[in-house]
Amino acid sequence: MAYNTELYANYTEAQVSPRGIAILAVFLTTGEHDNAAFKTLQERFFIIDKPDSCTDIENFPLADLLPESTDHFITYSGSLTQPGCRETVQWVIINKPIYISHQQVHMRT
Ligand SMILES: *[C@@H]1O[C@H](CO)[C@@H](O)[C@H](O)[C@H]1NC(C)=O
Repeated sequence: MAYNTELYANYTEAQVSPRGIAILAVFLTTGEHDNAAFKTLQERFFIIDKPDSCTDIENFPLADLLPESTDHFITYSGSLTQPGCRETVQWVIINKPIYISHQQVHMRT
């Protein structure tokens, strides 16, 4: 998620304002192998189990969570998925999934 720094001073302002936020979304589906990048995130889910909790992950290129090809995507103006659901989001959805293992799908954190 990123906010429009050309129009707004901060995320708080952007999330309630037109064309305020951009969200890049990737679908996950099951495959044969563990996904190492997803595993890095998944191992920390238990730390962020309460509102406003956070954790740092160093040396984690977000590109590792994208499919090999990002040539095709759809984009549309939509809303946030959290209460408020304001229509301030430019969604970018990559049309190829990334794969995680069945074990990762069922992992308890
Ligand atoms: C965000 O920017 C707005 C407009 O400049 C300002 O009024 C507000 O205090 C800022 N909020 C934060 C959390 O910095």
